[in-house]
Amino acid sequence: MKKQIVLLGLILLGSYSMRATEGMWLPYMLSDREADMQNMGMLISAEEIYSVNNGSLKDAIVSFGGFCTGEIISDNGLVLTNHHCGYGAIQSHSSVEHNYLEDGFWAMSRAEELPNEGLFVRFVKYIEDVSVPMLEGVHDGMTEEEKRARMQSNMNAILERRSSSEDFEFEIKEIYYGNQFILIASVRYTDVRLVGAPPSSIGKYGADTDNWVWPRHTGDFSMFRIYADASNNPADFADNNVPFKPYRSLNVSISGTQPGDFTFVYGFPGRTEEYLPAIAVDQMMNELNPMNIAIRDIILQGMKSYMVESEEIDIQYASKYASTSNAWKKWIGQTQGVDKTFGIDSIRRAEARFQYALAQDNNLWNMYGNILPSLEQRYAVSLDLFKKRDRFIEIGYRGNEVIRFLWGMNRELSAAENGSEEAVNKAAESMAQRLSGFIKNYNASVDSTITYNLYRHWMSTAEEVPAFLIDAYGSPDGVDISGMYSADAFFRPTNYDAFIALLESDPAAAIDTVLNSEIYTMMKAAFGYYIGEVAPQLGGVMSEINNLQKDYMAAQMVVGDPSELYPDANSTMRITYGRVEGFVPRDGVRYNTHTYLDGVIAKYVPGDYEFDLPERMLELYAEKNYGRYATEDGRLPVCFIASNHTSGGNSGSPALDANGNLIGLNFDRVWEGTMSDVYFDEAICRNIMVDIRYVLWVVDVYAGAGHLVEEMNLVSE
Ligand code: ARG
Ligand code: GLU
Repeated sequence: MKKQIVLLGLILLGSYSMRATEGMWLPYMLSDREADMQNMGMLISAEEIYSVNNGSLKDAIVSFGGFCTGEIISDNGLVLTNHHCGYGAIQSHSSVEHNYLEDGFWAMSRAEELPNEGLFVRFVKYIEDVSVPMLEGVHDGMTEEEKRARMQSNMNAILERRSSSEDFEFEIKEIYYGNQFILIASVRYTDVRLVGAPPSSIGKYGADTDNWVWPRHTGDFSMFRIYADASNNPADFADNNVPFKPYRSLNVSISGTQPGDFTFVYGFPGRTEEYLPAIAVDQMMNELNPMNIAIRDIILQGMKSYMVESEEIDIQYASKYASTSNAWKKWIGQTQGVDKTFGIDSIRRAEARFQYALAQDNNLWNMYGNILPSLEQRYAVSLDLFKKRDRFIEIGYRGNEVIRFLWGMNRELSAAENGSEEAVNKAAESMAQRLSGFIKNYNASVDSTITYNLYRHWMSTAEEVPAFLIDAYGSPDGVDISGMYSADAFFRPTNYDAFIALLESDPAAAIDTVLNSEIYTMMKAAFGYYIGEVAPQLGGVMSEINNLQKDYMAAQMVVGDPSELYPDANSTMRITYGRVEGFVPRDGVRYNTHTYLDGVIAKYVPGDYEFDLPERMLELYAEKNYGRYATEDGRLPVCFIASNHTSGGNSGSPALDANGNLIGLNFDRVWEGTMSDVYFDEAICRNIMVDIRYVLWVVDVYAGAGHLVEEMNLVSE
């Protein structure tokens, strides 16, 4: 009897102590995770997910344009990604006559698929640990500079050797803060055509209000197709290119998911910092985030005050508002999330355990005992410098649209300062090219109001006001930037066309106006301050911090179990796994795992820029015309959440089930858990996916593009 109880206790313990779903693993690390994944319900092997030979799921995953993820969903090279990942492409084909952003776009035949210059997808062929050859000949007696030089020559040699024997693109990246290195072999396809996109009222439903938020009702997807030459090899766009035949495409499951189901996400997360000391997280959450949030409050309020007054400005600033608010909202969620989960305390406890473990062994203590105190000390003395850096980036650089624009062509303008005719002509040409795009979405009143408020804020809140601001304005009350856009501005609201004409008819005079304008002088002064005063100090501190962080990582791998430590995201291919599960965002509230079309309709606000809906969707809803995509109880699923550890760059990543079938499309995280980039807590960190059945319904039933669904391999089991 007693034995049984003990056994039962073990079983219970077993089921409740499954390891957290934290971690984004490099594909070759999966063999160490296989048992854990299978314990959680996975029915396939690690080898089926990633194998260096063609034919694993890996061959259906692409880096989409270098900033998102995509996956192959048919044997004719059909690619699924997010609407917000395809946005640039969709926008570039849109005009007043064909407003694909507003109305959606569906190629009804291959001939109608639209090429996209500059867009590419990249397949990973294999990833290899090359730490040994990378570190060959590097030893402790060397200076940092000597080490770097040696690693650079090692890297060149490795790349050269590979490139001469294999026909792939190669790249070497550091992981674990430079303690290890990986070589990535990949193939890039550059003929990627737009196949379909829902209207923004579906693909961007809820826009900024719902961004980062659960419950969510967005159909954030779009479709592309890869084209290849007649031998299935990469080729630039050509009429006679043919649909690419993939080594693998994903099966698409319409059987749906239940709470508790195993799921994994395959993709290219951009950047995480999961191994920072507590002091760094504390500074980020409690000093830098609040400071940067306050700055963006000013920017967002400035934009909004004009957007509500003018429809023209509303359209011009919609995308700027969205991108400014995206990070702003994430920061707010991060700070709240760390606070709520007592994240800093928990990191401090881990640090205490780490120091204690080191102290048990004289050698370890001598080697590593000093790292954390040194890191703490460096961070503590550098906080003011970090604030200067962020204030400059957020106000000095991002806080004025003209300054950003001018900095974007700083090289050409600096060259023109020396007056050679060739340089002046080049600058004028480049400016003429960029200016019309800039002006299209520019309003000088919005820009100058925001900058005025930001400069006043900078001068009244900075611990140390930059000298260039004092020189220019004396005090916050002296801030006046109206002049920049009046008399001596190089282009005035009323005068854009005249200025563009001048760039062409008299480049020297036009460029002269720019170089002598107040705003150009301000840009020079702001960057002069940053490059002259902030960057050199920052460079010194950061190189010390990076070296210490590298040692700290190495020490954690010695003290802990290295196979349990995943490398921080760095835009390389990763797999993360978890369960479909809800969470408790605050006392008394529990979030479900799935949302349904009923919820989409409930949020509908006719004519609203975020929550309007197409007429056709309302009709289909009234008829309950859900095709074969409804649940057993007759509802159409829209989005769902799971405890997969994802990050920015995982947009467009496939969510797969226990059999490796496609069940959803990752596009966001929940607000409460956005701190997962520095501190993952399984209790509240969730990724948000579009349910694949909603994608199929929109394509098939809503848009009538059933031929695309026909291409796919639908499974239900
Ligand atoms: N939050 C998501 C991400 O970080 C979606 C952003 C696009 N949507 C938006 N409303 N800004 O990329
Ligand atoms: N929306 C993000 C992206 O574009 C994914 C959400 C996240 O940051 O996790 O990559």
